[in-house]
Amino acid sequence: MREFLRANESSDDAPALGLIGKLVGDLVAVLAMEITSDAVRIDSLIVARELRRKRIGRFMVEELARLARKIDRDRVVVDSLDAGDFFRKLGFQDLDNGMELKIEN
Ligand SMILES: CC(C)(COP(=O)(O)OP(=O)(O)OC[C@H]1O[C@@H](n2cnc3c(N)ncnc32)[C@H](O)[C@@H]1OP(=O)(O)O)[C@@H](O)C(=O)NCCC(=O)NCCS
Repeated sequence: MREFLRANESSDDAPALGLIGKLVGDLVAVLAMEITSDAVRIDSLIVARELRRKRIGRFMVEELARLARKIDRDRVVVDSLDAGDFFRKLGFQDLDNGMELKIEN
C-alpha cells in the first residue's frame, strides 16, 4: 500500500482505517477514513493516476456511503477541498468547513 501511495504522489502513510479498491488483484484505490459520532469522514482518497476518470473514485465513495448506512451514520463528510468538483459531482454539498453527503435510508 505504501508503494501504491508513493507511486501516486501521496505523502500519506497507510491508513489505520480505510477501504482499498482492487481491480483483478491490483491495488487501484485507497480511501482513508474515520468514524465519528455522527458521520463517516474521508481523510483522503487516492485513485491510481493511470486509472482516473473511470468511475473508481465514485465507486469507492458509494461503497463508503453503504458502509456508513450500515453503521447508522447518515452523513459522509470530507474536509479536503482539493477535489471539490469531484465530490460535488457525487452529490456532496459545501459546508463552512468542508463538504457533506447526506445518506438517504
Ligand atoms: C479525485 C479522485 C479521487 C477522483 O477519482 P476518479 O476515479 O478519477 O473519479 P471518477 O472517475 O469516479 O469521477 C466521478 C465523477 O467526478 C468527475 N471528476 C473526477 N475527477 C474530477 C476532477 N478532478 N474535477 C472535476 N470533476 C472530476 C468525473 O468526471 C465523474 O463525473 P461523471 O460521473 O459525470 O462522469 C482522483 O482524481 C485522485 O485520486 N486524485 C488525486 C488525489 C485527490 O485529490 N484526492 C481527493 C482529495 S483527498
